[in-house]
Amino acid sequence: MNLTDEQQSILNGASGPVPAKLMRTLVEYGDAFGAGRLVPVASGHLAGTFGAFAYKTYYRVLDEIAAAGLKVKVPTTCNPRPGRDLNFVNRRAFSHQPALEANFSALGITPNFSCVCYDGANVPAKGDVLAWAESSAVQFANSVLGARTNRNSILIDLAAALTGFTPEFGYLLDEERRGRLLIKLKIKEMDAPALGYLLGRRVVNRVPVLEHYPFSRVELKNMGGAMAASGAVALFHVEGLTPEAPDLKTAFDGAPPEIMEITQADLDALRTKDLHAGLVAFGCPQLTLEEALALAPAFTGKRVKTPTAFFMVPDAHRRFLALPEGRAVQDAGVAVHDICPLAALTIQLRRKRVLTTSGKLYYYLKGSEYGAQADCLRAAGV
Ligand code: F3S
Repeated sequence: MNLTDEQQSILNGASGPVPAKLMRTLVEYGDAFGAGRLVPVASGHLAGTFGAFAYKTYYRVLDEIAAAGLKVKVPTTCNPRPGRDLNFVNRRAFSHQPALEANFSALGITPNFSCVCYDGANVPAKGDVLAWAESSAVQFANSVLGARTNRNSILIDLAAALTGFTPEFGYLLDEERRGRLLIKLKIKEMDAPALGYLLGRRVVNRVPVLEHYPFSRVELKNMGGAMAASGAVALFHVEGLTPEAPDLKTAFDGAPPEIMEITQADLDALRTKDLHAGLVAFGCPQLTLEEALALAPAFTGKRVKTPTAFFMVPDAHRRFLALPEGRAVQDAGVAVHDICPLAALTIQLRRKRVLTTSGKLYYYLKGSEYGAQADCLRAAGV
């Protein structure tokens, strides 16, 4: 790999042993993927925010970095909290949370605690090179905002944020961002999370280009989150909607090499027929204020018959609860959280049957079922 004089001197130890290790980590990571150089990044986003007692090596590395007095070189946000205070089991499971957050603070990481960092805390511009982790945020940054990031892992995300560099390969390069297959939609009633889930399963790690559909920003967020979970998709395009697909010829740099069709029956088959649940969960990726406000009228003046929870972006959570709509949702018996539902619900003494509108949560949470929004509202009893 070709390094600049500055990068080479950090690698040689001129800034101390810890920056040298971070630089070596990035160089070896880049070499493994055939990167030719390290390039500067505009921002970072970190995924390692669950202080589970088992991640001892991660904590040792963080302690070493914090003891060296290093700070992030670029604005860096981080993923949600795991819901340590939700119950006794979580308090034990996430016992390292306070120490983890103290180290994040020492490193200068923005305490936004949300996977939807692009909702305000960390908004990249088109063409920005990033070093983000969190597959749903990576997907949104690449696909909807036209920024460029690979799906980085925990610790690689940190090494990039602390040095300000990332190896140039994969989705940072034009040729890797081209469409690989065209998705034709034979759909009457859009269910974006279900579509994302199916695309992830079928496309796996290629770049799909969806024929034009007027998806909202919220639909793109929830479709992308599901796609990045059930598959390894880090970038999709929508003809005439997303920034790198003004038309199909541009998105593919020619003609589509392959065509795939998704039908209404495919989407409908994902929805559970059994609406009995121990918990109805909304939000994963976390709900924005816009999403919570759109859901609020369904609960206003009513009372849920099944335990129901919103999992929101913390800043949106604070603003929502200060509004009459937020209070009405709480009065209806909905628990409104600002944590990650997957982490919060994974360890349960008696596992509840969770019904969710999230294709991502459905994919990852054992024992969960998927329902379209109408199904989940019916299951909640409103
Ligand atoms: Fe976000 Fe947690 Fe879902 S990090 S995407 S709410 S699994």
